[in-house]
Amino acid sequence: MSVRCDLLVRGAGEVVTMAPGAGQAPHGPGASVDLGVIPRGAVASRDGRVVWTGPESEIAAALEVPGDARVVDVEGAAVVPGFVDAHTPLVWAGERAAEYGARLGGATYLEIQEAGGGINSTVRATRAATEEQLAALAACRLDSFLRHGTTTLEAKTGYGLTLEDERKQLAAAEVAHPVRRVHTVLAAHLTPEEYAGRDDEYIALVCDEILPALAGQAEFVDVFCDEGAFTVAQARRVLEAGRALGYRLKIHAEELAHTGGTALAASLGAVSADHLIHITGEDIAALKESGTVAVLLPGTSYTLHTTYAPAKELLAAGVTVALATDFNPGSCYSENLQMAISLACQEDRLTPAEALRAATTGGAAALGLQHEVGSLEPGKSCDLLVLDSATHEELPYHWGVNLVTGVIAGGEVVVHDRRVVRAAPTSTVTSPADGGLT
Ligand code: NIG
Repeated sequence: MSVRCDLLVRGAGEVVTMAPGAGQAPHGPGASVDLGVIPRGAVASRDGRVVWTGPESEIAAALEVPGDARVVDVEGAAVVPGFVDAHTPLVWAGERAAEYGARLGGATYLEIQEAGGGINSTVRATRAATEEQLAALAACRLDSFLRHGTTTLEAKTGYGLTLEDERKQLAAAEVAHPVRRVHTVLAAHLTPEEYAGRDDEYIALVCDEILPALAGQAEFVDVFCDEGAFTVAQARRVLEAGRALGYRLKIHAEELAHTGGTALAASLGAVSADHLIHITGEDIAALKESGTVAVLLPGTSYTLHTTYAPAKELLAAGVTVALATDFNPGSCYSENLQMAISLACQEDRLTPAEALRAATTGGAAALGLQHEVGSLEPGKSCDLLVLDSATHEELPYHWGVNLVTGVIAGGEVVVHDRRVVRAAPTSTVTSPADGGLT
């Protein structure tokens, strides 16, 4: 029985489905990771959902391709699932380039924060911006994320720190755009200046007013539990209050020092614990036990000149690992998840297969979207990338460039020839020179 489709992506050098068992047996370095790679493969979708993946040679037998279906010949390019970036404060105003220079001169992240810079300087700029200004900034950034291959991302608040300013950030993050967004309230990012010295009063405001008012507008609640931010006891108050209101839980933990946030996350059954630069062996065991996803942000280690989270040890212990950008104006100003993949391989010794899995299915698990995105399997959203390479292994290896030439999100062409397209071109004529999405 053949399957009807309205989109067929064919001619791939390989299709990386991320569905173990769907392709050839893994071989070569990293052979223990089965990404379900189909050599000379194709992907078909209908109404935005994947309906079939398989070898090019089986298209005629497996698929019914109506005359008005869109057929995209990618001419030998590798096709991989769209990236899922599970840690990005998307909406904020201002910039902090001077802080970057000060850190190169020896100042630390916390010294800059204590001198009035850091998160609170972005809070001042974000409060001063209108919702429309923030939405316009978000739309530009989403274009950049999409051009670099991200089709799903988390949009955190955390630069408003009043109910109205956090609400404004959430609203701006809803700007119309093909990138799928998952919302997180990070009102407990830092104590705002007007509450200086009164951290517990601010935590009470977060728990008693901000989180209840925003319940239903965001899937997750998050808290920055670290030296210079909130204690484990304060983080527990926030997460328990959020959980009682129906939010799912995330935490920033062990980024600047080891303070115990990971153990807290595991004990509360958090969906993810993020950063984890300073975690211990006991923390790793606790994450494994609770099923909490470890979201690693190597771009932050790169920017802040710190050590990297122990990705290999986490994987060896059986913890689900996600890679994300941490796109923000202070500790990591990059929307390029390919760079995070490259850093994870270079600095953490992940294999290309492990890193790509972390940037797709790992990110999906960190957002609770593992049944919707992250792999090319029947029933999931047809979100895929066409690479300027015949193999996914070039993602970390050919670094510092954008290897994504085309993007399909929800079965629609949204990046064509490296440019975001607002409406899909109607031609189905193949042009070898333009990255293959025609
Ligand atoms: O994830 N750690 C806290 N939040 C961000 C940094 C935010 C900022 O410096 O503006 C992070 O690294």
